[in-house]
Amino acid sequence: MSENTKSIPITRTSLLPNEIESVLEPLESGWLVQGPQVKSFEDKWGAFTGSSFNLAVTSCTTGMHLALAGLGLKPGDEVIVPAFTWISTANVVEHLGAKPVFCDINLSTFNIDVSLIDNLITQRTVGIMPVHLFGLAADMDPIMRIAKKHQLWVLEDAACGFGATYKGQHVGCFGDAGVFSFHPRKAITTGEGGMVTTANESLSIKIKQLRDHGAVLSDLQRHLGPKPYLLADHIHAGYNQRMTDIQGALGNTQMDRAANIISERKCIATRFDDAFSRLDWLTTPFTGDKYGHGYQSYPCLFQSDDISLANISEINHARNNWMESLQKRGISTRPATHALHMLSFYKNKYTLRPEDYPNAYFANHCSISLPLFHGMTEEEQIYVINNVVEI
Ligand SMILES: Cc1ncc(COP(=O)(O)O)c(C=O)c1O
Repeated sequence: MSENTKSIPITRTSLLPNEIESVLEPLESGWLVQGPQVKSFEDKWGAFTGSSFNLAVTSCTTGMHLALAGLGLKPGDEVIVPAFTWISTANVVEHLGAKPVFCDINLSTFNIDVSLIDNLITQRTVGIMPVHLFGLAADMDPIMRIAKKHQLWVLEDAACGFGATYKGQHVGCFGDAGVFSFHPRKAITTGEGGMVTTANESLSIKIKQLRDHGAVLSDLQRHLGPKPYLLADHIHAGYNQRMTDIQGALGNTQMDRAANIISERKCIATRFDDAFSRLDWLTTPFTGDKYGHGYQSYPCLFQSDDISLANISEINHARNNWMESLQKRGISTRPATHALHMLSFYKNKYTLRPEDYPNAYFANHCSISLPLFHGMTEEEQIYVINNVVEI
């Protein structure tokens, strides 16, 4: 490949031949939905993360919706949500008629600024939704302390959290429940898909029922049972958020190399960290003793040292130009994610201004994710490094 024909995507799905072939098993067996492949994926997820109850669903978004419904979220309630995250963290709160109350982030970690949470708690607050953004755990100890003090539940948005640990424990195992994503930008993918994790058995039973139209028995249980005339009772007006066994097979087989996937991504990130350490205009992802980074992506900050409301437009302009230059050289980049209070729906509904959550606003305007994915070749890594340093 010559230099100017290189094309390095922000991520590239990397499936091994046995993982691709695994989807034939459910197609041939005829058991296509929430059957043995999904069960095995759930079991392996539990073994890997240490989570007691693991429920595969159609996406992280639907998993968070089910978890919130299971936790009893209702109209009028308030939930604390970071202002810089994917929109669905807040949308699922809206879907149940409750109000997401935004909390600004820490610009070094991109995660919720725990020092601001206490001040946002009102009589209506029922829970906190920390997000483990880009594979870095939120600071869970203070979050759990605040939750306990105010008797709030905690739902971890662990969409990007595969491989992310906090004090040695995998994320998704701290709060009342956690939810992961298997969208193709995530390290383990099933196309679309998600996994709800919880240590609370009664909550897991409720979520399991809500996932399957509110039924007390799954299709597989009915199918294997001795009484063909028995239909399940439905004790909730539930949803259909069951994962297919085709997706389950993909997840199930990828879990056999879960540790390798994480270490390969970490290796690439370390190489980038070293290569970019001397660039004073680029801040590489936060690392720290308490945190094992999962590197769902490689989010950096552009010229963040002297950032202020006065110069943010200028920095944003420079960042965009820089991203365009990389694009011309075939290197895809993206803003790390978006600030929710700047999106029309939330801005208009709650009359929010950029400066209400300044760090989220800054991150929105000066973050940049560089390509990082397992399966990225050494040549691709060097090409990214050379161009980042050179431009
Ligand atoms: C922080 C965060 N939360 C939620 C989601 C939604 O995940 P899904 O696409 O599986 O619904 C994403 C997806 O990128 C995300 O990054």
